[in-house]
Amino acid sequence: MSKKTIVNPKLYEIIENAPEEEVKRQEYFIEKLKEEIHSREQRLGRKLKCMVNTFGCQMNARDSEKILGILEKAGYEEAEDEKHADFVIYNTCTVRENANNKVYGRLGYLGSLKKKNPEMIIALCGCMMQEEHVREKIKESYRYVDLVFGTHNIYKFAELMVNAVYTNKQIMEVWDSTDKIVEELPIVRKYSFKSGINIMFGCNNFCSYCIVPYVRGRERSRKPEDIINEIKSLVNDGVSEIMLLGQNVNSYGKGLENPITFAELLHQITEIDGLRRIRFMTSHPKDLSDELIDVMASSPKICKHLHLPVQSGSTDILKVMNRRYTKEQYLMLVDKIKARIPDISLTTDIIVGFPGETEEDFEETIDLVEKVQYDSIFTFIYSKRTGTPAAKMGNQVPEEDVSRRFDRLLNVVQDISAKRMERLTGRTYEVLVEDINTQLEGFVTGRLENNAIVHFKGNTSLIGQYLNVHLDECKGFYFLGTAV
Ligand code: 5AD
Ligand code: SF4
Repeated sequence: MSKKTIVNPKLYEIIENAPEEEVKRQEYFIEKLKEEIHSREQRLGRKLKCMVNTFGCQMNARDSEKILGILEKAGYEEAEDEKHADFVIYNTCTVRENANNKVYGRLGYLGSLKKKNPEMIIALCGCMMQEEHVREKIKESYRYVDLVFGTHNIYKFAELMVNAVYTNKQIMEVWDSTDKIVEELPIVRKYSFKSGINIMFGCNNFCSYCIVPYVRGRERSRKPEDIINEIKSLVNDGVSEIMLLGQNVNSYGKGLENPITFAELLHQITEIDGLRRIRFMTSHPKDLSDELIDVMASSPKICKHLHLPVQSGSTDILKVMNRRYTKEQYLMLVDKIKARIPDISLTTDIIVGFPGETEEDFEETIDLVEKVQYDSIFTFIYSKRTGTPAAKMGNQVPEEDVSRRFDRLLNVVQDISAKRMERLTGRTYEVLVEDINTQLEGFVTGRLENNAIVHFKGNTSLIGQYLNVHLDECKGFYFLGTAV
C-alpha cells in the first residue's frame, strides 16, 4: 500500500501491525474491517448491507464469491438491491464494448444513490479496471467511486477495504501482473451443491481480437495438490458437482515445478470419493489432447459436454485471429471426439464480423456449424478492443453486413440446437436439481449431464438432489419433464 493513501493515524497503526504472510495478513484485515463495520452498526443502529454485482464469465462469478465471503465475514449482510446497500461493488468484464458501457451507465445511478446515503462505499474491480483509459475516465468523471482494484490484487480485497473505510480519497490500486496465487480466503458459494474452482489464471494465446491476455495476464497454473485439497473440502461441505475454470484448461500444468497435463489432473480428480459430476471450461481446440478424450470417455463422472470455441469456420480468418488451427483440423478433432464419445454434447463460441470477414468466409462458418451440429452456440458480434492487434486492422466489416450475417447465423443455430435437443425427448436422464423455478409455480429446474435444462414439478426439498426425470416435451432451449 503506498504511503500517500495513509491519512488516518488509526489506519497507519493498523497497517504497521499487519502480519507479512499473505493469508494471515488478509485474515487480520478482515478482523479490522469487522471492528469498523461493527462500530458503524452501533452508530447507525442497524446492520450494514452489501451488494456484489458480477459481469462477464465464470471466473468473475468465482471472484465475486470470494468478495462476498470476505464482506460477510466482516459483518455485512446481502442487500436485496443497490438502493438498500451501504457497499456496492461491480466486478467488471471488458471482453466486449457493451459490457463497459453497461458499467458506466450504472455508475451514474450509483452516484445518485450515494447522495442519499453518504455511508455508501462504491467499489469497482475486474478486467475493465486493468485498462488505463478506463482508470483515467473513473478518476476524471466518477470521483465518488471510493475503491478501484484489478484482477491481480483481488486477494488484497480485505486490506483495500480497510484502507477505503478510513480514507476519504479515491483509492485506486491496479497491478500489471502477479506471480502470486492466494486462495485460502473465506468464500460464500452461490449454490451449496455445486462450485467453480480455478485451476489456472490468465492466458498466453493472444488471439488477435481478445483483450483477456492483457487484462488477466500470463498463464499461471495452481498446484494439483492445492486443487485436489480444495475439491475434497468442498465435497465434505456438500458439493457434488464442480466446474474446473481456466481460460485455456488444455494447457494446464505447463509452467509448474512438476509439470502435469490437464488429462492427468482430471484423472486424479475423478478419484475423489463423493464427487459425482466434473465439468470444465474453456478448451482451446489447438491444445485438446487424445489423452483428454480418453479420460473423458472412460470416466462416468466427467460430464459428456465439451465447450470448444471455434470462433470462425474460415481458415483464412482463423489465421488472422491467431487461433492456430484450420477449419479442417477443427472438423477432424470433432470427428475424433464424436467417435470416442458418441453421446457428447458440443457447444461453441462464434464471432461474426471479424475484420476482413467476407461473405465466403461467413459461408464457411455456416458450413462448419451445419457439419458439427452443436447443442448450443454463443454468437458474438465482433467488438473492437483497444490494444489488441485486430483493433488496428483496416478492413472492419460494415455494420449492416455484420448484423445481416449475425441474424442469419442465429436462425441456423436455432434450427440445429432445436433438432439436437428434440432427439432427447421421450428419454429419461439423471438431473441435478438446481433451483426453484421462478416462472412456473410448483416447478423446479434441473440440469442434465449434457448441460440441458429441464423444468418439472417439485419443491425446495429437492434442491441439490439427483433424480431421474423423463423429458416429456422439448421447448427449444429447455425441456418440460416428470420425475420418475
Ligand atoms: N469481440 C467479440 N467477441 C469476443 N470474444 C472475445 N473477444 C471478443 C471480441 N473482441 C468472444 C469469443 C470468446 C468469448 C468468451 O468471447 O468468442 O470465446
Ligand atoms: Fe482470449 Fe484466445 Fe485466450 Fe480465449 S484463448 S482468453 S479467446 S486470447
